[in-house]
Amino acid sequence: MPDAIYRFPEGFLWGTATAAHQVEGGNTNNNWYAWENQPGRISQGHKSGLACDWWGGRWKEDLRNAAEAGQNAHRLSVEWSRIQPAPDKWDEDALAHYREIIQGAIRLGLKPMVTLHHFTDPLWLYERGAWEDDHAPEFFAAFVRKVVGTLGDLVDLWVTINEPAVYVTGGYIDATFPPGKSDLGAAFHVMRNLLKGHAAAYHVIHELQPQAQVGYAKHYRGFEPAHNWFLPDILMANFQSASFNDAFSNALVSGKLRFALKSEAVPEAVGTQDFVGLNYYSLDRVVFKPLAFNQVFSRRFFPKDAELSETGFIANLPRGMASALKWAHQFKLPIYITENGVEDSVDAMRPAYTLQHLHEIWRVANFNWDIRGYFHWSQIDNFEWERGWTQRFGLWGLDVDTQERIRRPSVDLYAAICKENAISSETVRKYAPQVFERLFPG
Ligand code: FCB
Repeated sequence: MPDAIYRFPEGFLWGTATAAHQVEGGNTNNNWYAWENQPGRISQGHKSGLACDWWGGRWKEDLRNAAEAGQNAHRLSVEWSRIQPAPDKWDEDALAHYREIIQGAIRLGLKPMVTLHHFTDPLWLYERGAWEDDHAPEFFAAFVRKVVGTLGDLVDLWVTINEPAVYVTGGYIDATFPPGKSDLGAAFHVMRNLLKGHAAAYHVIHELQPQAQVGYAKHYRGFEPAHNWFLPDILMANFQSASFNDAFSNALVSGKLRFALKSEAVPEAVGTQDFVGLNYYSLDRVVFKPLAFNQVFSRRFFPKDAELSETGFIANLPRGMASALKWAHQFKLPIYITENGVEDSVDAMRPAYTLQHLHEIWRVANFNWDIRGYFHWSQIDNFEWERGWTQRFGLWGLDVDTQERIRRPSVDLYAAICKENAISSETVRKYAPQVFERLFPG
């Protein structure tokens, strides 16, 4: 018997999250494939290649591992460019393949949460300007109609778009994602069209499946002023948060998008989320820099005393999860943590990071906030966008050359949590004794 136990609500969904381009392999018909083939775009010239070979069938092994480790859900995405390889062409075989994967997940006891857009666009849309094209929302709605029409008997939990603010920042502000622009006007336009695409998708899904639960995955980033007595830092932190965190979600309440110093009415977006999907990884300090034009007059950095991940991508700051949850709670809707995790090939930080973040989630679940599930990013190491294979986010490691799966201690840690539907003092003592006192004081 453990000395103490923090229990999660009954029926809580425990899973991991993945995205098509990052795990499937062989996605050669989308914007990221084109991007990977341009010199200098991806760290060390890495390519997604075979990825985790899910399209070749290795999803079976990874999802079996997930189910054996006590998970009861999985968040995955479908790849638009496979299902609609050209504007006038549907690939029924690709849809049948997704049916097989999703049926396989369900047979294993994993409830599917399906993301309809996770960063990648079909090449044909990319060539038309991707989401700068005002027809993109209509194209997306047609794609969603096809997917939900085909898979709707298996899935009732949908994420329309993954992290619109990250898509816009990467593609149209800091130029790390395709198409590599730095253009605030385009950034606003793309955000507006993503919002319209999300709203159209929401309405299509509910038309076909009135009982569906539909949301989008919001990447919530904490922004703290570098000096909390210095007004310009405070204003900059608030400005960053308003643009990055609030713009899209507020538009789902008010029908008005306020972003990149512009605003526009998008009335069809009102009320188009049934749950808040929350991706949280870390938070930043913000300092006012009057000359930093292209970083919106500020610089962001991690707090000096924060514990940093292996490659410095993530700082372990669970208080940011608490703020993210508080932010999400304002919408008075059920909340799913749709992503949370850390890159760590040697599993030095992951156990404590995971436990500390889950502890924050448990705390608010005790205030009867409606928190329904947690999806750890990720089940297995996968292709991490512009950072290529340098980031190891998996509970399981992957040898990219041999496709060998490497069991990390976190597999067993997460299994213990999922199976007990709880964080027990025994689990913390075993996997992360360094945070025992913090999680079980006294
Ligand atoms: C999120 C993305 C996901 C993955 C993690 C590490 O922003 O949604 O695809 O890259 O970061």
